[in-house]
Amino acid sequence: MNTKNLTSLLLGTLLAVGCAPQQKEAAVDTGHDLDYCHRQVLSTLAELHENKGDSLDYTMMPRNVAPDSDRWECRPTCAEEWCSGFWPGVLWYDYEATGDSTVLAEARRFTRSLKKVVDDPVFDHDLGFLIQCSYGNAYRLTHDEEYKQVILNAADSLATLFNPKVGTILSWPRNVGELGGHNTIMDNMINLEMLFWASKNGGNPYLHDIAVKHAETTMEHHFRDDYTSYHVAVYDGETGKFIKGMTHQGYADNSMWARGQAWAIYGYTMVYRETKDPKFLDFAQKVTDVYLERLPEDKVPYWDFDDPDIPQTTRDASAACVVASALLELGGYVEGEKGEEYINSAKEMLASLATDRYQSREHNNSFLLHSTGHRPAGSEIDYSIIYADYYYIEALKRLNDMEKAADPGSRQIAVNRSKS
Ligand code: GLY
Repeated sequence: MNTKNLTSLLLGTLLAVGCAPQQKEAAVDTGHDLDYCHRQVLSTLAELHENKGDSLDYTMMPRNVAPDSDRWECRPTCAEEWCSGFWPGVLWYDYEATGDSTVLAEARRFTRSLKKVVDDPVFDHDLGFLIQCSYGNAYRLTHDEEYKQVILNAADSLATLFNPKVGTILSWPRNVGELGGHNTIMDNMINLEMLFWASKNGGNPYLHDIAVKHAETTMEHHFRDDYTSYHVAVYDGETGKFIKGMTHQGYADNSMWARGQAWAIYGYTMVYRETKDPKFLDFAQKVTDVYLERLPEDKVPYWDFDDPDIPQTTRDASAACVVASALLELGGYVEGEKGEEYINSAKEMLASLATDRYQSREHNNSFLLHSTGHRPAGSEIDYSIIYADYYYIEALKRLNDMEKAADPGSRQIAVNRSKS
């Protein structure tokens, strides 16, 4: 090759590299954002203690802040209040990130107030959210036996809702008549984590089997051909036959309700972690890809992807938080560029959530604005909601741990939930 040819080859290569589309890394300052969360946690504690001194009622859990308010609405801890475990969970994550002993003491007090929901007969599938987010994180961080026993009891209690003819947990026992049968909602996928945990920590191995069966049955019936999910699947409780898919909190039976799809993404990623069965990893990617393909530019979904009023309708920051946290884990399980894309998508979501459009900052003491709870029922529309905060701090913590990992080449995060 003569010098001229060599020069033009080198020039061509340089130009090609220069023009190739570069994957843009989204910038998230996790240290800064975790500091922000800590300040909001301390402000919330100050708000809760205001005028109460030492007589704070630890059974009253922050649930939401309305757009026209700057104060938390707190609700009493009970099995019917599915969000009671998120505030203790936020405190545990904040304690983990900061080591603040005041936060630790408060985390212990709020967590203890949930014990009574385990002592009663199971009300519905939400026992998993209630106990895994509070006691689950408490045990993960302290290894205190008192916490462990409560989780084991809760797992046994949740398992009583499993119907072997159907192959899923009955999500809402109270709604069997109204919905026309054994009902299972997509959110229920999250509650399998407590069953997996219990089966590995002294509980009955059967808990693992029913969690896997639930995930398999849900995979078979709870999704349309394009991998978008129904919110609710209804089955004949006697024969196990699938009757219908429908919505409860979404726009329509056939629409993609953002948080429902988020639960599916998080749920199947977690089931893959617990089983290492490649069919669950494949499925987690399929339910993720259809969600990512349809996101708006700022990566925070509208509350339902099929609401005809888009863009004149509300976002759901909580769904973005659930998905960001899940993708940081999923990205570690998927080889090559695809895995990197999942992690970069999570970073883009967190970067967007860190802007003044979404962070609550001076508006109120939560972390984030703009979540949608139950729009069809007119409930918590464009609110700050505690579960958005829970999954936001979980995602930031996961990303922070990845950044600090001894092996910077490794994308796998240590989700040390399963085995103590
Ligand atoms: N039903 C739980 C949720 O709103 O996602």
